[in-house]
Amino acid sequence: MNKYHFAITGANGLLGGMLCWRYGQAGHRITALVRDPQTFLAMNKSEFTCLTGDLAKPKTMADEVGKVNPDLIVHCAALTNVDYCEDNPEEAIFINEVASEQLAARASQIGAGFVYISSDSVYGKGKGPHKEEDAGGALSVYAQTKLNAEEKIKAIHPSALILRTCHFGFNLLPGRSSLAEWMLGNMVAGKEIGGFVDACFSPLYTKTSAEMILAATRKGIKGIYNLGSSDGISKYRFALQLANELGFETKMVTPKKQAEQGFAAIRPPDPVMDSSRFYEAVALQPPTLSEEIDKFIRTLRDGKFDIQERFEGLL
Ligand SMILES: NC(=O)c1ccc[n+]([C@@H]2O[C@H](COP(=O)([O-])OP(=O)(O)OC[C@H]3O[C@@H](n4cnc5c(N)ncnc54)[C@H](OP(=O)(O)O)[C@@H]3O)[C@@H](O)[C@H]2O)c1
Repeated sequence: MNKYHFAITGANGLLGGMLCWRYGQAGHRITALVRDPQTFLAMNKSEFTCLTGDLAKPKTMADEVGKVNPDLIVHCAALTNVDYCEDNPEEAIFINEVASEQLAARASQIGAGFVYISSDSVYGKGKGPHKEEDAGGALSVYAQTKLNAEEKIKAIHPSALILRTCHFGFNLLPGRSSLAEWMLGNMVAGKEIGGFVDACFSPLYTKTSAEMILAATRKGIKGIYNLGSSDGISKYRFALQLANELGFETKMVTPKKQAEQGFAAIRPPDPVMDSSRFYEAVALQPPTLSEEIDKFIRTLRDGKFDIQERFEGLL
């Protein structure tokens, strides 16, 4: 099997961290592009090349990546806090659109492939499961910046792969908490978990996302694809399933409505994706959400990434 040189932006983040770990483990060469190399290198025990890149100064990131000539850039970095984006639209546009376009332009110049990690939030209207052509009606600044970035990247790097994703998993950097980690933390602490009944999704466990991105690279597919689980679920039901599988009392999960939370940014109620086009292209079976939750729990039980220390008392 071919080994690739991956340059990964957002490598200290939820997805980027997993991509580095998984691809490093499989013997691929990794160059991480992060704002904070010390943290990355401490976490990864210096086994990867790590360069400093800040999307707020996009030329710095593009220049660094130009020096190492990767086969492929997987662009995970973005301003992902949707409420922050809503309150700071100019910064969101600059980081998520302008800087992403500049990075894709540099990839094109140096002949590197480009994978843009987009979002299921581009499905702002209508009921899921959504096919790729349903995108539109962005309900937030964040969603609009992701959609605009797709267009800009497609124009500047026509062979780019654009993946509309949704994922859950473990942050490899301690001190950060994704949705699933927040749920686990509350279960351990015996605290109530409010799960949204009016917010559905179709996420993959980040380890599966990593494997699917690799499969797409091997097949050389380009264009826009959804990348999620084969079925969707509300965040309330997701929390219930996690609690159930881990042996917690399901009554600690209570139904809530995101519409009543007063968030700055509106989240799409049903961005569940139909990812069949992707799985046909890579000739793989689409994973169900239950399978993804099982894999997530297996990682927890295996005690990888010092997770057990973080969730002491969970198992
Ligand atoms: N989480 C989801 O379910 C989900 C759903 C749909 C789409 N996505 C997309 O998936 C991608 C990966 O997200 P994630 O879940 O891994 O989120 P994340 O954990 O918040 O990671 C985002 C990364 O972007 C980096 N970043 C932010 N501003 C930057 C800047 N100015 N320069 C360089 N790096 C910067 C952050 O760096 P620091 O580590 O230094 O903070 C962080 O590592 C994003 O593009 C996101 O839009 C995520």
